Formats: sequence, structure tokens, C-alpha cells
Amino acid sequence: MFMKDVLGADLQNFLKSLLPERDLLLTEMEKYAQENHVSIVEPEVGQLLSLLIKITRPKNVLEIGTAIGYSTIWMARALEIGSQITTIELLPGRYKQALKNFQKAGLHDKIKSINGDAREILPNLQENYDFIFLDAAKGQYPEFFKLTPQILKPGGLLVFDNVLINGWVIDLKFPERRKKTMVYRMRNFLEELKNNKDYLTSIIPLGDGVLLCWKKGEENE
Ligand SMILES: C[S@@+](CC[C@H](N)C(=O)[O-])C[C@H]1O[C@@H](n2cnc3c(N)ncnc32)[C@H](O)[C@@H]1O
Repeated sequence: MFMKDVLGADLQNFLKSLLPERDLLLTEMEKYAQENHVSIVEPEVGQLLSLLIKITRPKNVLEIGTAIGYSTIWMARALEIGSQITTIELLPGRYKQALKNFQKAGLHDKIKSINGDAREILPNLQENYDFIFLDAAKGQYPEFFKLTPQILKPGGLLVFDNVLINGWVIDLKFPERRKKTMVYRMRNFLEELKNNKDYLTSIIPLGDGVLLCWKKGEENE
């Protein structure tokens, strides 16, 4: 009853109907995710990620929250030759499954997969990224946001999925008390971004809400 679509079901189904057909690998992964209750991006968000990668032409992409590698494959397929994606997953089982999917997709040379807690891995990363996709535990988004300035290049894009959390962040109505901290934390995070002078931000109400944060630089303020 409290699980509601951010967009109405009619609009969401219409937008889905306008997507090009996915190949067998992606459709099998969608089926697997649904049957095994693995949360992955909606295909329309996969398409948006692919478009953003094409427009921004990043050399070095970081993803936090691989799951079985569905969004990773959408992004990796859009990368230019010579560009790379690093993706981090906490759960060993999902990490191993994602590796198999990257092999099947023939993308293993473009993707570096890391198994571990991104909160521990991020401070030790030696590289800089021009595109970071955050799709891990929603309650940890403010923490991840604080960890990214050191590794996101000026002019780089930070993309968060699920920032409207089933629409609960909009009206602060949610099914269980134990969701309260996560929902309020996300609401505060979004409100604080309004006054953040380091980023230009926009929320696209696609899927469960996609937040785009473009990092300003000295020459592009
Ligand atoms: C929503 S799923 C990711 C879906 C994936 N991006 C896709 O669309 O195909 C979130 C994943 O983040 C992982 N995760 C949660 N907290 C994490 C952390 N601190 N570090 C790394 N991975 C984490 C979870 O195990 C889960 O598989």
C-alpha cells in the first residue's frame, strides 16, 4: 500500500514501452533480479546512464553497488575504447555473479571489480574519476557524498539512484518506523544540496529518482 511509484504507473509503463529492446543477457539479468529480489536499476535508468556516459565521455568511471552487474553493463557498453569502469560490491556472492555476467558480456577487460565495503575502499583509491554512480545502501548516501570530493575530478558527474525512495522522501509517509532514519536522512541530504556551492544539481524523477551532481571547477563555476 505504501509502495508507490514516483511516476504514476501509466506514465512509467509508457516510458518503458518506448525503450529499445534489450539483448538476451540484460533481459535474463532483469528476470533473475526479479525472481531473486535483487534490486537493480530500472531499464529506463540504465538507458539514462548509457546516455550520460555517451554525453560526458568519461575516461574513468566508478560504481558503488554492483549487485549482479546490470547497471555496470549498461555503462560499460557506452564507454569509449580505452575507458574503464571500477565497480565495488559488498556481498561476495553478488560480486562473483557479476564477474560471470561481465565475462558473458565480453566486457571483463573494461571492468575492474572489487569485493568489499566501499566506505573502507573509497578513502584508499589512488585514482580520480570523471563519473561516479552511487547505487548502494541509501542510508549511506550522505557518507558516500563526503567521501567523493577527493576522487571526483572538477567537471565530473556524480549520479545517485533511488533518491526518492518509493516516493517516501516526498511526503515522508513510509510503511515501517525502521525506515524513518533512512528516509529523513535522504530528505536532509537533498535539502542540504540546495545550498552546496560546489555542485550544480538536478533530480530526474525517473525510476525511483535519479540525482545528478555536476562538480564545478575553478574554470567552470
Ligand atoms: C541497488 S543494488 C545495486 C544495483 C546495481 N547498481 C544495478 O543497478 O545493477 C545495491 C548493492 O549495493 C551493495 N552495497 C550496499 N552497501 C555497500 C557498501 N557499503 N559497499 C559496497 N557495496 C554495497 C549491496 O550489497 C547491493 O548489492
